[in-house]
Amino acid sequence: MSRYVIQHTPVWQALIRHHREAADWHMRDLFARQPDRFARFSLTAAGLRLDYSKNRINEETIALLCQLAQAARLPQQMQAMRAGAPINYSEQRAALHVALRHPEQEGYTVVGQAVMPQVHAVREQMRVLVDAVRAGQWRGYGGATITDVVNIGIGGSDLGPRMVVEALQAPEAPGPRVHFLSNIDPEQLHRVLSGLNPARTLFIVVSKSFTTLETRLNAEAARTWLLAAAPDESAIAQHFVAVSSNLTAVQAFGIAPAQTFAMWDWVGGRYSVWSAVGLSVALAIGMDAFDAFLAGGHAMDDHFFNAPLAENMPVLLGLMGIWYNTFFKAHTHAVMPYVHGLRSLPAHLQQLDMESNGKRIGSHGERLGFDTGPIIWGDVGVNVQHAFFQLLHQGTRLIPADFIVCVNSLHEHGLHQDHLFANGVAQTEALMRGKTREEARLELQQSGVDDATAQRLLPHKVFPGNQPSNTLLLDALTPAALGALLALYEHKVFVQGVIWGINSFDQWGVEYGKQLAQAVMAELQGQGEGEHDASTQGLLAWHRQLRQS
Ligand code: F6P
Repeated sequence: MSRYVIQHTPVWQALIRHHREAADWHMRDLFARQPDRFARFSLTAAGLRLDYSKNRINEETIALLCQLAQAARLPQQMQAMRAGAPINYSEQRAALHVALRHPEQEGYTVVGQAVMPQVHAVREQMRVLVDAVRAGQWRGYGGATITDVVNIGIGGSDLGPRMVVEALQAPEAPGPRVHFLSNIDPEQLHRVLSGLNPARTLFIVVSKSFTTLETRLNAEAARTWLLAAAPDESAIAQHFVAVSSNLTAVQAFGIAPAQTFAMWDWVGGRYSVWSAVGLSVALAIGMDAFDAFLAGGHAMDDHFFNAPLAENMPVLLGLMGIWYNTFFKAHTHAVMPYVHGLRSLPAHLQQLDMESNGKRIGSHGERLGFDTGPIIWGDVGVNVQHAFFQLLHQGTRLIPADFIVCVNSLHEHGLHQDHLFANGVAQTEALMRGKTREEARLELQQSGVDDATAQRLLPHKVFPGNQPSNTLLLDALTPAALGALLALYEHKVFVQGVIWGINSFDQWGVEYGKQLAQAVMAELQGQGEGEHDASTQGLLAWHRQLRQS
């Protein structure tokens, strides 16, 4: 196979030349010259609407970026994903999270083996547990019904389910309260467990590997807490279930196979909320709503696999990102959901994007000569406007952003929802248009300040604008809409990984810190002294001084 280096393709060079022109464009002028710009650069898919007209692009940009995607063999890689090929090549694994939301009994295989029967069997197993808990038929020791569920997991075994539960569980709806225990900070353990009644609490230990230290420590602490109240060890069967691909380790921990929900090595942790990793979601919202969430994801998959590149929502979002990140050298990408339910979406996307594409080595082991995964950050609107938006409006950096807005709220209250929408959309307009010197001068004159003051204030009142944004518009935050939105971002990340020529599905970088933490921990426990730099040594010495035994 010849070595593919995207940087050496003619279309990459063409994009560099095109970028030199585009760097001088102002989006105000693009809109003025092209009144039908919205119609040209917006589309609908899987119930979501995307307006990407407020970007520093024209038709040529899109055509060139689509050629880049072709040069990177994106269509072939999409087929490889679908075929269950080992696209996670450093671990020789498929990345087949799309199978988890596939409705039919067949359609996906891994190494010639059909996976849909296993996927559906686990979904049925989930349904039995979810229905029993929600109907009050699943009982804790002493015969009490379950009122609280604690999801014990970290990373992909926490962020996805936590975000979806926050988004979709209405406080007044029936179903258990769901809590999340991820960190090994004893404070979190204390806060989650205090106030819970052991007789009415169900723990879900979620760990694909079942070797993750944080999760194991928390699961052990939960077991100790339960057994301090329960009559005997038989209570574990009523209060603990596990989700894992390491069934042997689950059994060794003391959770029986009947209480264990399988997942597979062809699903990455950050892509796993669609599997039994989403059990806390299903318990919170019910299995029918969980099915609707899967259906939304599947509708986006259908679109992704079938739409032409230039009309393909995940592809276009991915290409916009490549345009800014690699050619404009924007280092970050902001995500601003103007939807309270999506307040944890930026954290989920941080893991999804940064753990997937935070890579510097290409598929042949070569060091890539361009920037890859951006720093993902953001928070919920309108709060963001009163927090960090100043920097977007008048700072020195180019910061592309996604705005996510809903037209309707599931809990209407006066004009709240319209104000929320108005603010989100107005920000995209302000960021795009900016405020010229002339506009600022006129405003100052009209405000009645004297000329000298106006002159002094003028530079501070100018907004450069030209900050790009995508607006994703949802009718309302329903399970199906959220499913489509998450699948959209998953595919966007994949598209970018393919174009940069990296493996989006491994995460070797997180291992090193874990190894060193074990060595430091051994020292804290007085088991020898390791060789450290002066800073680490100093910190350990401070720890010895301050640690209360
Ligand atoms: O942080 C590294 C990581 O491997 C993530 O990719 C994963 O989501 C998380 O740890 C938890 O892993 P597990 O589900 O195996 O406990």
